[in-house]
Amino acid sequence: MKGIILAGGTGSRLWPLTKTVCKQLLPIYDKPLVYYPLSVLMLAGIREILMVTTPRDLEPFRSLFKDGAHLGLNISYEVQAEPQGIPQAFIIGEKFINQQPVCLILGDNIFYGEGFPAYLKNITALETGACLFGYYVKDPERYGVAELDSQGKVISIEEKPKQPKSHYAITGLYFYDKQVVDIAKDLKPSKRGELEISDVNTYYLNKNQLQLEILGRGLAWLDTGTHSSMQEASRFVEVIESRQGLKIACIEEIAYRMKYISLEQYIKLIEDYPQSEYRIYLEDILHREFKQVVSR
Ligand code: TTP
Repeated sequence: MKGIILAGGTGSRLWPLTKTVCKQLLPIYDKPLVYYPLSVLMLAGIREILMVTTPRDLEPFRSLFKDGAHLGLNISYEVQAEPQGIPQAFIIGEKFINQQPVCLILGDNIFYGEGFPAYLKNITALETGACLFGYYVKDPERYGVAELDSQGKVISIEEKPKQPKSHYAITGLYFYDKQVVDIAKDLKPSKRGELEISDVNTYYLNKNQLQLEILGRGLAWLDTGTHSSMQEASRFVEVIESRQGLKIACIEEIAYRMKYISLEQYIKLIEDYPQSEYRIYLEDILHREFKQVVSR
């Protein structure tokens, strides 16, 4: 399965922070926001990844991740000239998707919790249809909202409804079969002038090919669209990391633990990093688990 990280947009709610840097490169506690969605794809076992971003932000992303080989990934890049809606990612990524199933994650979404990686691995086997995640929120009107019947089956999906029919927001993590490119190409812009991901999802729903997985309350799905939600997400990461001494979304650690890179590659990677709390953490993993020492 292929993976796309959609990391464009205007980030207008975060202005002036986003005047020169895009939202997905801003910090969430100790690392750039985009590390969190990238770690989700990596934990799902997805190693062929397309980053879609704005013309302005292409070079910063490229210098951050290069071709991904140091993480055992294959990362390529495409530009979204204007933010004309989430499904545009499939049109831009048509060649990359190459008639295969694809996972799309929004570059500003953070997922964290026990069992989440195992959960994802099951879904990457998807060959037909679509799989979305629903999450109970207090303010569903800000999201795509799923209406469910008494069996928990989806009846409808509405984008930012004034009167939401449930509290289940659709998260920014979507799995689709290869039909999605043609579906995206056939969409017409909505009243707000964008191609809507809810229209893609409704298409699958009408074909009876939509699966919705409800994420339990033990999992965290965090939003980072506003100043206060960014601060909250940072505090959340800080609290967990300082309590456990383990990092969330440390992409080098994940690359090593998932065996995308060898022990030698991991050591080589760290040797190039400047002295920092981040490097010490990566070295500590070696000390603790392998009694290896990195040369400085
Ligand atoms: P939004 O939060 O809808 O938009 P935004 O990030 O531009 O912020 P604001 O509303 O403050 O202007 O986007 C959700 C995510 O999807 C975010 O990571 C940006 C990304 N996105 C694109 O990359 N291209 C698009 O065309 C759209 C609509 C969103």
